[in-house]
Amino acid sequence: MRPQLLLFSVFFLLSCTLRFSLSEKCHPYDKQALLKIKKDFGNPYTLTSWDPKTDCCRWYLVKCDLVSHRVTQLFAYNGGLSGQIPASIGNLPLLEYLIFHKQPHMTGPIQPAIAKLKNLKFLEISWTNISGSVPGFLGELKNLTFIDLSFNNLSGSIPSSLSKLPDLKELYLSRNKLTGSIPESFGEFKTKEITMDLSHNQLSGKIPISLGKSDFGTIDFSRNRLEGDASFLFRGTKLWKLDLSRNLLAFSLTKVKTLPESLRYSEKS
Ligand SMILES: *[C@@H]1O[C@H](CO)[C@@H](O)[C@H](O)[C@H]1NC(C)=O
Ligand SMILES: *[C@@H]1O[C@H](CO)[C@@H](O)[C@H](O)[C@H]1NC(C)=O
Ligand SMILES: *[C@@H]1O[C@H](CO)[C@@H](O)[C@H](O)[C@H]1NC(C)=O
Repeated sequence: MRPQLLLFSVFFLLSCTLRFSLSEKCHPYDKQALLKIKKDFGNPYTLTSWDPKTDCCRWYLVKCDLVSHRVTQLFAYNGGLSGQIPASIGNLPLLEYLIFHKQPHMTGPIQPAIAKLKNLKFLEISWTNISGSVPGFLGELKNLTFIDLSFNNLSGSIPSSLSKLPDLKELYLSRNKLTGSIPESFGEFKTKEITMDLSHNQLSGKIPISLGKSDFGTIDFSRNRLEGDASFLFRGTKLWKLDLSRNLLAFSLTKVKTLPESLRYSEKS
């Protein structure tokens, strides 16, 4: 080989390596965390694209922030993952969206390391076989606006700490095996027009009168074992859906002087 050509080849190789490392946007810390998550899930087929040689911001089920290139979203729909949610999930400090939906083989508790995800805005673990309780630490993840833990195998009572979330707009806990009563503190939500679906559980006791103070848009408490009066719920001015059907409630709507104008759908019986 002529020396010039050799030099050219070396230069070409160098520039390729350089270009590769420049195009790698993924933060090395996030990449390491994702690779550990993959390993902890048992290297499933769904995560085949999670190849250490490529940019993790281009991996399947992952999204990075366009400016910081930190991993902000992890979303897995329609199967492919099995076993417990690994503790390594807590090593993605900038994560804002965490979604596991329709994962019938996902089991075990809601991973405690999720408590480390202080930037989490959107948490969905639905249609899985996750069990255990709804963890109280969710009340410490102050950026949460959306929680959907419906269609799982969760038991125990609803933590009162959820009302501490200053920006929570939607809470779905339906279709679990939750027991106990609705927390008194649920009258202290700060956000407006909250959607709350606690239907299809085994909640019992009276609906706390304090709930008349929170600004709910939608309430679905149907198919539980709630008792007593609920007429005070009809005072919510923004309320447009209220479903209290299939409970043990006993009250007369004649006590309700004016139904909120915004109410479009209400069911009781
Ligand atoms: C939970 O597991 C059972 C048995 O494997 C399955 O039939 C069911 O569909 C699963 N539940 C969900 C919500 O995926
Ligand atoms: C929460 O959200 C705010 C506003 O979007 C942001 O400034 C903050 O860094 C986020 N994270 C935490 C941990 O509060
Ligand atoms: C649901 O949780 C109960 C314990 O609360 C457990 O015995 C049962 O096996 C779980 N079901 C599934 C399908 O995981």
